[in-house]
Amino acid sequence: MNELQLEILDIIREIKRHLIYQRELGAFVYGMDTIEETLDRQERIEKMERISKARMVQNDAKSTPAVMSLFERIEKGVETVKEDRKIFSEKNKEDKQKLISELKKEIGEDCKRCNLGNLGRQKVVFGEGNIDCRIMFVGEGPGEDEDIEGLPFVGRAGQLLTKIIKAMGLERTDVYIANVVKCRPPENRTPLPDEMDICGKFLKRQISIINPEVIIALGGTAVSFLLGDYKIKISQVRSRRLEYRDGDLLIPMVATFHPSYVLRRGESPDVKKEVWSDIKIALDIIGMEVKR
Ligand code: URA
Repeated sequence: MNELQLEILDIIREIKRHLIYQRELGAFVYGMDTIEETLDRQERIEKMERISKARMVQNDAKSTPAVMSLFERIEKGVETVKEDRKIFSEKNKEDKQKLISELKKEIGEDCKRCNLGNLGRQKVVFGEGNIDCRIMFVGEGPGEDEDIEGLPFVGRAGQLLTKIIKAMGLERTDVYIANVVKCRPPENRTPLPDEMDICGKFLKRQISIINPEVIIALGGTAVSFLLGDYKIKISQVRSRRLEYRDGDLLIPMVATFHPSYVLRRGESPDVKKEVWSDIKIALDIIGMEVKR
């Protein structure tokens, strides 16, 4: 087993320990069976490797038929583990899809938990995209077009966001997009703290289900909500790696200017350059390269 495989194994063991702890605290834990199966299989492979090494010493020859067949079996085992990982991530995807659908259903189509449900909004904009994404964008709240279509970032700001995503070498279907509040504030005003507190709980659950590798917060409202401090200004926190924390969950985060701000600034090359440098920080964090 190479160093990377050993490291992955350690991570899986750590996840198992964490899940056991969560289960002891009474949390609903999913995926444990697959983790246990994967670890069992890995442990069998490790044992086989140890035996094979011992035999190599005994035989003092790597190429005796017995040892060779053992190596072949180990290889096969590694292949099966790779296959298991694929199944694990597929299964994980199924779980995510189920949880996301349940969350959407729980919110409903006429949510009135906060006042935004009573202020003339048409549609609850849940969010959309690839639940298995590496990158999740979080905006402030739906505008007029989003309110009509029920989808995030489909108006002018959304078109600019789509351009940014394409410049990253991705499609909208590769990422996940959501907002702090799911209903349009009247006159596109900034959501109030109590509206963000109430609705933002759903965003937090959405983030924990999606569990992206990096979050890109669009604008001051999104980043201040995600950092849990409504006084934060975008200029204080952009252009560096941040962390989104929710309980045990820790996801790297980068904040950049909201696309609407970029539009308001007439798409000034300076602002666009700053946005692009933030995006590159996010891509760097996940080791994604863009030829540009
Ligand atoms: N602005 C946002 O913050 N979110 C949207 O979905 C659209 C515009």
